[in-house]
Amino acid sequence: MQDIIEQLRAKQAAARLGGGEHRIKQQHLKGKLTARERLAVLLDDGSFEELDMFVEHRSTDFDMADQKIPGDGVVTGYGTINGRLLFVFSQDFTVMGGSLSEANAEKICKIMDQAMKVGAPVIGLNDSGGARIQEGVASMGGYAEIFQRNVLASGVIPQISVIMGPCAGGAVYSPAMTDFIFMVRDSSYMFVTGPDVVKTVTHEAVTAEELGGANVHSTKSGVADLAFENDIEALLLTRKFFDFLPANNREKSPRWPTDDPGSREEPSLDTIIPDDPVQPYDIKEVILKVADEGNFFELQPDYAQNLVIGFIRLQGSTVGVVANQPAVLAGCLDINSSRKGARFVRFCDAFNIPIFTLVDTTGFMPGITQEYGGIIQQGAKLLYAYAECTVPKVTLITRKGYGGAYDVMASKHLRGDLNFAWPTAEVAVMGAKGAVEIIFRKDLGDEQKIATRTEEYQKKFANPFIAASRGYIDDIVMPHETRERVCRAFAMLRDKKLENPWRKHGNIPL
Ligand code: HXC
Repeated sequence: MQDIIEQLRAKQAAARLGGGEHRIKQQHLKGKLTARERLAVLLDDGSFEELDMFVEHRSTDFDMADQKIPGDGVVTGYGTINGRLLFVFSQDFTVMGGSLSEANAEKICKIMDQAMKVGAPVIGLNDSGGARIQEGVASMGGYAEIFQRNVLASGVIPQISVIMGPCAGGAVYSPAMTDFIFMVRDSSYMFVTGPDVVKTVTHEAVTAEELGGANVHSTKSGVADLAFENDIEALLLTRKFFDFLPANNREKSPRWPTDDPGSREEPSLDTIIPDDPVQPYDIKEVILKVADEGNFFELQPDYAQNLVIGFIRLQGSTVGVVANQPAVLAGCLDINSSRKGARFVRFCDAFNIPIFTLVDTTGFMPGITQEYGGIIQQGAKLLYAYAECTVPKVTLITRKGYGGAYDVMASKHLRGDLNFAWPTAEVAVMGAKGAVEIIFRKDLGDEQKIATRTEEYQKKFANPFIAASRGYIDDIVMPHETRERVCRAFAMLRDKKLENPWRKHGNIPL
């Protein structure tokens, strides 16, 4: 008996060593943790239950029969974060570059299937050279099995991808179909074709970092939701992020204890809107002042900064925030911000997360680039997402609610549950100057007349009262009482029930 136990211990030790001491050292030299070290940071101490530690690949071509490492380059299993269950896989770059074999894919699929059965999120730690080249199509089949599961799990359990090394070729499409992608600066990259192929095909010289590093994807492409400095920061913040999410689409987000009273007043909000209507201010200040303990987990902070998205808690419960940012491009909606907002609204809606929308926007961004880029269809994504969404929606217009963007941003007409405005709100088709230049075009040479007309338009429309008189605004609230009013609104909406008509699926303008 003792012999058998020793044998098991030896096999476990071999599996835990992955590709061996030398490759572990190389991994550390690159500033990266190993697959198992990462799981130790991500999960609660001692909570990890490893599965399939002894799985080996079955290929024999290219001397592969002699290159078997127990576990085959991916560590899979389940564990907890702050006591809440999740399933994980962590690719082990020390074993054949973390490449995906058929057996390796089966391990990932097994935990995804289990996660679906029990209704728990999946986090994937990606660090892989892609398809196991020696296995050919078997590896490609493995990827497709994972893709299929990503899609079936979408909207059922939250899926998070943390990219901590290479992620190239078709391998990028599994993370792309998960809900959130986090990347590590300088050690991770994602691209469909690498620098060598790019050079051959388009004659562009580019490094891996320039083509698909964390910086590129968190600022230019919008593929990554967040970029972190190193493995530890990425994993610790993934833990923090996980705390906001529900386990699945049938549950509500966890409610965490808070000492911050819902009735807290914020007198500083009474002076945050500048006297000059074109003067910017930072909408994040408003979000921080409304949130429990001033805690805002922002996503995509460096991409499409004219729209701010992320999670806060109100009286302990998760709320998704979507806010125009008047400090960037006057908070206008353009292609990138519309896509950014739409995807986030759909995530919140799929996972029962109420949405708090803050409006201060001059409308959709004009311009040839925007029109040629399809702002019609891209902007429609956000409109569609808000109109389709059935979770509680509370909206606050702080200043400008102009044009189509007024409609789009969770207006009453798109089933906004409670629509508030500050006294500083201006709900109109457009700004007074632009409006007068159109409807009084014949007076354009006469500065005096134009000034009078502008003032007249400003007085008539640059306020929230006309919208309130029609019931489009439920109440005009004092800025200092915003937190209390919004907390009460979401508390009232906690058990809201609203269903869309039955259909196979809608046809969002993709
Ligand atoms: C098998 C692989 C591998 C792979 C790396 N290795 N990638 N083994 N299949 N895809 C092995 C290497 O042979 C090496 O083994 C070890 O992993 C570490 O790799 P290095 O090259 O030494 O590491 P590094 O210099 O850091 O470079 C990492 C890398 C490079 C950039 C990822 O290994 C690389 O370019 N790999 C190939 C990438 C690729 O073309 N993959 C296929 C993409 S197509 P030893 O024994 O020397 O330690 C694809 C299709 C998916 O993925 C389709 C889905 C639709």
